[in-house]
Parts: sequence; structure tokens; C-alpha cells
Amino acid sequence: MVLIKKIYALILSVVIGVTVYEIVFKTPGSLDLKFKADEYSLLNLLSFGIFEKTSTADNRPLYILIMSSNPRSGSTMFSEIISTRNNSVLFFEPLWDQMKKPCFQNGNCTSTFLHDVFNCSYDQDFEDWFRAKRLFIHYYHPNVHHCGNSQCLRDLDIRGLCQNTTTRIMKVIRSRLSWLKPLLSDLKLNLKVLYLTRDPRGSITSIKSFRWDASPKLRCGNMLDDMQEYEKLKTTYPGKIMSVSLEILSLDTINTMKQIHSFLYDNSTLPWATLEYIKTHFNATENSRGTMDTKKNSEIEYQAWRLKISSTLLRTIEDEPACVSVIGKMGHVLFRSFTNVRNYTISLWKT
Ligand SMILES: *[C@@H]1O[C@H](CO)[C@@H](O)[C@H](O)[C@H]1NC(C)=O
Ligand SMILES: *[C@@H]1O[C@H](CO)[C@@H](O)[C@H](O)[C@H]1NC(C)=O
Ligand SMILES: *[C@@H]1O[C@H](CO)[C@@H](O)[C@H](O)[C@H]1NC(C)=O
Ligand SMILES: *[C@@H]1O[C@H](CO)[C@@H](O)[C@H](O)[C@H]1NC(C)=O
Ligand SMILES: *[C@@H]1O[C@H](CO)[C@@H](O)[C@H](O)[C@H]1NC(C)=O
Ligand SMILES: *[C@@H]1O[C@H](CO)[C@@H](O)[C@H](O)[C@H]1NC(C)=O
Ligand SMILES: *[C@@H]1O[C@H](CO)[C@@H](O)[C@H](O)[C@H]1NC(C)=O
Repeated sequence: MVLIKKIYALILSVVIGVTVYEIVFKTPGSLDLKFKADEYSLLNLLSFGIFEKTSTADNRPLYILIMSSNPRSGSTMFSEIISTRNNSVLFFEPLWDQMKKPCFQNGNCTSTFLHDVFNCSYDQDFEDWFRAKRLFIHYYHPNVHHCGNSQCLRDLDIRGLCQNTTTRIMKVIRSRLSWLKPLLSDLKLNLKVLYLTRDPRGSITSIKSFRWDASPKLRCGNMLDDMQEYEKLKTTYPGKIMSVSLEILSLDTINTMKQIHSFLYDNSTLPWATLEYIKTHFNATENSRGTMDTKKNSEIEYQAWRLKISSTLLRTIEDEPACVSVIGKMGHVLFRSFTNVRNYTISLWKT
């Protein structure tokens, strides 16, 4: 009897598996996830089809990973906007302390660790560190904001809050995109990656003012590596990764956020709290149709670096091949002179 059941289950799984296979491979674009034949065996699809399909109909928590290649790229502000959504937690720089461990420096331990944090099954050491990191824990959950003293912080049920929420967000600037592959290829996870880019002349100018390592070769090298990886990952996992330009987000906040919401939630309507955040942080003004525009003029924030960058730094960056590649890929121009960079009549974008 047991044997018959097993045989029946096997036949059923083959039938369903083949159907899934047909849907996936014969109707391009019909599914959010497109699997690459060379990376996924039929067996993988089979087991996915029969054992996961029904149970994942989607009450899986949503994992949102916000990644940027460099600090000073707007990732704090961006992760704040994304976490305005009700009932979410935000892990701010969970890799900060971990990077001291050698296996994180080459990415070997990164995806496992990030997975455990997303799953709220991280080890207690991480939680103790995170709780004590005032600057980071502040972003975690609205309950933290209501904490007036350290006793309240100590009593906070960090793991409980994580387990209770269906939207878990993470902001990371210390990973490479390529290190996330094991997470992206894990079909059990409902993971969405937002890769945020900023013109390296802007981030490096700011990094330098903080006296961190502002080497254009290092900063642009990391960015080029990630941008090239992004192109590949985007093809392999089209529904799971999206790039966001800080410059375009600043210029056209509402529309960009709508696109991001479609990508994350299949719903382009922005919740009230998100609109409020945009209004207060991007200085959006109401237009005649009652919707909000964030048409700020050229001199404002996203390219304020043009007024701050020194001619030496501009030259160093624009002479670095990795920076030239990155700036070109972003569709931005090279200014090539101090007078040009200061002259806002000259557009940042190639026309
Ligand atoms: C990282 O992984 C690679 C390949 O899986 C392995 O060859 C290497 O030894 C690992 N490095 C460390 C530090 O664990
Ligand atoms: C995720 O966390 C739960 C407990 O919260 C644990 O039972 C489960 O094994 C974890 N999953 C993985 C893959 O680590
Ligand atoms: C998690 O949800 C349960 C059930 O609704 C509730 O009893 C518990 O207090 C919640 N925990 C936290 C930390 O919010
Ligand atoms: C889309 O999102 C908005 C704002 O959060 C919400 O009010 C609305 O019900 C959502 N629509 C659907 C179809 O889920
Ligand atoms: C969260 O949801 C509640 C009710 O669903 C609503 O009253 C409240 O305004 C929302 N908060 C934010 C920050 O969106
Ligand atoms: C916001 O915009 C108004 C005009 O649109 C301007 O007068 C004001 O200075 C701006 N505020 C900030 C903080 O940028
Ligand atoms: C700024 O650039 C514009 C367009 O190239 C040019 O016409 C103008 O003379 C420049 N202004 C200055 C002060 O160099």
C-alpha cells in the first residue's frame, strides 16, 4: 500500500513537474521567475513544483535587501523610505561587525549569515551587538523610537518583532552583489534585491569628507564589479532584482517609488506614510492635479557635490578607468574641467 502510494506520488510529481517545466520554458515572460536551464535541473523544478508550490502561495515573509556598492550613496534615506511600510523591520548594516571575520571578506559566509538574519534565526551574539548599536537599532522598528531609556531597549523583543512581521528589510553596503547568488537562487525565499547606485563623484566627495578610504580605484572598482554582476543577475532572476539610481529617484521620486512598489508588492499605489516621508524629505510640492511632484532644481542635493568637489579630486576620479566605465554606464557625462563641473547649465546626463 505504502509502495503504491509512493509510486503514485512519483508519477504525479513527474506529471506536475513536466507541466511546470512546460509553463516555465514554453511561455517566456508569463512568469515572474525565469529559470535558466543550465542552472536548474528538472529535478529541482520537480521538487519545487510538488512540495513548495502550494505551501508558498504566498504567505512567505518578503525579504527586501537594499544594497549599495559604497557608503554615502543615499542608502540610509532609501531604506527609510522603503521601511515606511506598515509592520516591517529594518536591519541596518548587519554586516558591519561581521566583516572582521575573514570568511566574510571573500563572501563565503555572507549569504548564510544574511539568510539567518532574514529568517530571524541569527545567533544571540549578533542580537546583543545589534541591540547595543544605538545608531543602527534606531531604524529597526517604530517601537524602538518609543524607547526613552536603555532599560526599554534591553527589554525589546528583537527576535519576536522580526518573527511577527511579514516584511523584513535589510540595508547593506558591505557585500558584493555576486555574494548574494545563493540567496537569489533559493526558490524557497521570497527575496527582492534593490541595487542602489550613485554617481561615484558624489559618493567619493562625501566619503573623503568623512576621512574614510576614498580611493577611486577601490570605490569605482567595487561599483563596476557590482554593475557588471547586476546585468547578469537581472537576466537570470528578472523578478528578483532591480536597480535604482539615486539621481533619478531624487528627480522623479513619486514615479520611481511607484515602479519600486510594483516590483516589490505588485501594487504601484504608495501608502500614505510613504507619501508623507517623500513630502518631508524630498521637499515635494503639490501640483495642480493634487499629486506630488519632486521637481527640485539642478543645484539641489543629488548633484550638490558639483559645488563641493575639488579640481584635484575631479581629475583623479575622471582619470580612473573604473570610474570612467561606471559613470558611462550610468549615462552621466565626464566634466573634464573645474568650470564645467560647477556650471549647472551643463547637464549631468548625456543627451
Ligand atoms: C571560500 O569558498 C571557496 C569555494 O567554495 C573555497 O575554495 C575557499 O577556500 C573558501 N574560503 C574560505 C576562507 O573559506
Ligand atoms: C528559520 O527559522 C526557524 C525558527 O525561527 C527555524 O526553525 C528554521 O530552521 C530556520 N530555517 C532555516 C533554513 O534556517
Ligand atoms: C507577536 O505576535 C503575537 C501574537 O499576535 C503576540 O502575542 C506577541 O506579543 C508579538 N510579539 C511582538 C514582539 O510583537
Ligand atoms: C495597493 O496598495 C494600497 C496602499 O498600500 C492599498 O490601499 C491597496 O489596497 C493595495 N491594492 C491591492 C490590490 O492590494
Ligand atoms: C498602519 O496601519 C494602520 C491601520 O492599518 C493605519 O492606521 C496607520 O496609519 C498605518 N501606519 C503607517 C505608518 O502607515
Ligand atoms: C522647499 O521648496 C521651496 C520652494 O519649492 C523652497 O522655498 C524651500 O527652501 C525648500 N526647502 C528645502 C528644505 O529645500
Ligand atoms: C555654462 O555652460 C553653458 C553651456 O555650455 C555655456 O553656454 C555658458 O557660457 C557656461 N557658463 C559659464 C559661466 O562658463
